[in-house]
Amino acid sequence: MSILVTGGAGYIGSHTVVELLNRGEEVVIVDNFCNSKPVMLERIKEITNKDFKFYEADILDKNKLDAIFEENPDIELVIHFAALKAVGESTKKPLEYYYNNVTGSIVLLETMKKHNCKKIIFSSSATVYGNPKEPRITEEFPTTRPTNPYGTTKLMIEEILEDVYSADNEWSIALLRYFNPIGAHKSGKIGENPNGIPNNLMPYIAQVAYGKLDHLNVFGNDYDTVDGTGVRDYIHVVDLAKGHIKAIDKLRENKGVLIYNLGTGHPYSVLEIVNAFEKANNIKIKYEIAPRRPGDIAICYADPSKAERELGWKAEYGIEEMCKDSWTYTQNELSGRL
Ligand code: NAD
Ligand code: UFG
Repeated sequence: MSILVTGGAGYIGSHTVVELLNRGEEVVIVDNFCNSKPVMLERIKEITNKDFKFYEADILDKNKLDAIFEENPDIELVIHFAALKAVGESTKKPLEYYYNNVTGSIVLLETMKKHNCKKIIFSSSATVYGNPKEPRITEEFPTTRPTNPYGTTKLMIEEILEDVYSADNEWSIALLRYFNPIGAHKSGKIGENPNGIPNNLMPYIAQVAYGKLDHLNVFGNDYDTVDGTGVRDYIHVVDLAKGHIKAIDKLRENKGVLIYNLGTGHPYSVLEIVNAFEKANNIKIKYEIAPRRPGDIAICYADPSKAERELGWKAEYGIEEMCKDSWTYTQNELSGRL
């Protein structure tokens, strides 16, 4: 049996493929490299000493996707990472985001159905909780329409998947709601290397540390939080990847729509992350306080106890390792050492 990974050359996908190969799963990757590079696939092979099948394809290409399932009749489950994910860009290009993420998911689901493959793990996001009434979020919290098209695609796909299950109870579906993945593989060979100026906090800090960017803009210091800056739940990407492995085991034994928060449950403010990065890597980060970023909420962190109870999964890495691993990878990547 094999596992199809859409978006497997990307940040979270590549780390998950490493974990899959390490435990002996057969892997088929589909990626169109719209936000990743072929070299990531080579690095996965270097890290694991294992091989996998790869198709350069767009999930919107129905015929190609169909041919992939024809050629690999043993695909039992899909981990669906492929998506566009830049919040700001999605407000400028909403149709591209709805087409790629929502239509792409529908094409994928149709093809799965045709080939009688009815197990899927979907990369969702804490963004589906909107601005929650309490900061520590359980899966019971209501979802609300996010403030940007990217987030809305996540909620729409979750709802489509709920309907797919209602129509056919043979499906096994996991909606994994990620909090803020950071860090990189211990090898320093794979990690997050965004195109252009990073939108997210950790890659931005790492590029300031490297000297590629002058200083970090801290978006607001007047929130009702420990030090006025935004608070999030940062999770090591390898822990996140391992959460997918646990979800596979669960889906092999259960039908239904299963929803899990993947976070550590530990809140950190922007300035706490800056301090942690400085301490872990012994390097100064220049920052300036800037206005709030539109659409940001003050605090958001996971109650991850359901995943621990039902999946036997718990994040293991702490903030120091997240900061160290992000920095190691960024130096390797930006210096061209890899
Ligand atoms: P990423 O951009 O690094 O990876 C996505 C991969 O999908 C890329 O390799 C890209 O080339 C590929 N892709 C995109 N559209 C495609 C298409 N139409 N056909 C084929 N391949 C396509 O992003 P990531 O950070 O690894 O995120 C993976 C998933 O997790 C995404 O669905 C994202 O929305 C979700 N997510 C990410 C975060 C985060 O902070 N990184 C948080 C919550 C949820
Ligand atoms: N921040 C800064 N300066 C920066 C970047 C970020 O101060 O240059 C602050 C933000 O204001 C926020 C915190 O750092 O308080 C984290 O911001 P990120 O952009 O790293 O992450 P978000 O929580 O805004 O969003 C991320 C993903 C979304 C996902 C969400 C929940 O980008 O896709 O986590 O999973 F939906």
